[in-house]
Amino acid sequence: MANKGYEAVTGGGLWGWINARFPLDKMLKEHVTEYYAPKNVNVWYLFGALAIFVLALQLLTGIFLTMNYKPSATEAFGSVEYIMRDVEWGWLIRYLHSTGASAFFIVVYLHMFRGLMYGSYRAPRELLWIFGMVIYLALMAEAFMGYLLPWGNMSYWGAQVIVSLFGTIPVIGDFLSEWIKGDYFISDITLNRFFALHVVALPLLLVFLVVAHILALHEVGSNNPDGVEIKKHKDARGIPLDGMPFHPYCTVEDVMAVAVFLLLFCGVVFFAPTFGGLFLESPNFDVANPMQTPPHIAPVWYFTPFYAMLRAVPSFLGTQVWGVLVMFGAILLLFFLPWLDRSPVNSIRYKGWISKLALTLFAISFVVLAYCGMKPPSGIFPLLARIFTGVYFAFFLLMPWYSRIDRVKPVPDRIVINAH
Ligand code: HEM
Repeated sequence: MANKGYEAVTGGGLWGWINARFPLDKMLKEHVTEYYAPKNVNVWYLFGALAIFVLALQLLTGIFLTMNYKPSATEAFGSVEYIMRDVEWGWLIRYLHSTGASAFFIVVYLHMFRGLMYGSYRAPRELLWIFGMVIYLALMAEAFMGYLLPWGNMSYWGAQVIVSLFGTIPVIGDFLSEWIKGDYFISDITLNRFFALHVVALPLLLVFLVVAHILALHEVGSNNPDGVEIKKHKDARGIPLDGMPFHPYCTVEDVMAVAVFLLLFCGVVFFAPTFGGLFLESPNFDVANPMQTPPHIAPVWYFTPFYAMLRAVPSFLGTQVWGVLVMFGAILLLFFLPWLDRSPVNSIRYKGWISKLALTLFAISFVVLAYCGMKPPSGIFPLLARIFTGVYFAFFLLMPWYSRIDRVKPVPDRIVINAH
């Protein structure tokens, strides 16, 4: 009769009936009303909630797009045109989804940068960070496969370039690129499997990973701009002295963030959905043509930093695999951050000038590389890409050294509001 006991505790009625059979009340308490966030979290802490919002938006608009989209090489491009012109509100659903893809990366890049600033990847949050990195990989795969679906000319040639990268890997390369395509070239078969992965497998994986990410976060607790552990000082009931309940104090801010986000987002959706060719590239308004490459092949902006690194490395010993290794290495290094950073403090606020300079140069290198990757590889761009690839790698590879010798400021024991 243990259930009866719980019904009594939760007050009976429908609420009690449910809670005697399902831990709804318990979960809400643990993850919402009695999850304590540090009271000094700032605007940078809004991007996690925004990422959840954009994920939900992509899932919802994606479901409606799938109702009219045809995953076949002969019909895909036409079905997208049909969605844009004939399906009621189809243009809105499609622009919400295409703009949502770019918004997702903007939000996630800012979310990751916050982690870099405040040392949120450091112990005990290593696994939380690794879940985040796997989310990032899954998100890149999701975006890459989604981009083939409209079967525009950039979809086709973009996929061609990226899949052929796998072909540069010694021994298994040719087999691997054929296996990914399911054919000898990008074909109807490739489109079909990318569709299956884009609409079923990867969204499922993303949702699963986000749940794991939040569970890991709630296990260790949020970091904060001072990088101090609020769990070190608790009151008699075990509540962190420098914490505040997630609801209502964080939920109200998250709702406000969604409102501001929607204002900006709708501005783009309604007034500049192609965003000057950055969010939807002009060659993609032509159907895929295996006989004609677009004048300049470049991936969408969120991949261009890595694309620039790929092109920055010249072929050597008759193979281009070095550029591919550098490109994948650039992403892989992020996984190891928790072990590369040897500073005695977490937050950039208390780190010394070397770490501050390193983080600033890293951010600049990412933006410059993104720009180089959008431009044709001529003039100043190959040189710039090489220099900033060096800066990007130096940030990580020299970190074990400079994070140790950098002079840090004393960290307060508890959170101090307006200490700066
Ligand atoms: C779909 C993508 C993602 C979603 C929905 C998501 C969601 C969230 C949420 C809701 C939080 C708590 C609120 C906040 O601190 O902003 C959070 C925290 C965090 N996320 Fe993510 N995240 C995503 C991707 C990533 C990625 C790609 C990384 C890094 C590789 C990452 C690393 C972290 C870290 C380190 C924290 C703890 C930050 C702290 O406490 O200071 N997340 N995430």
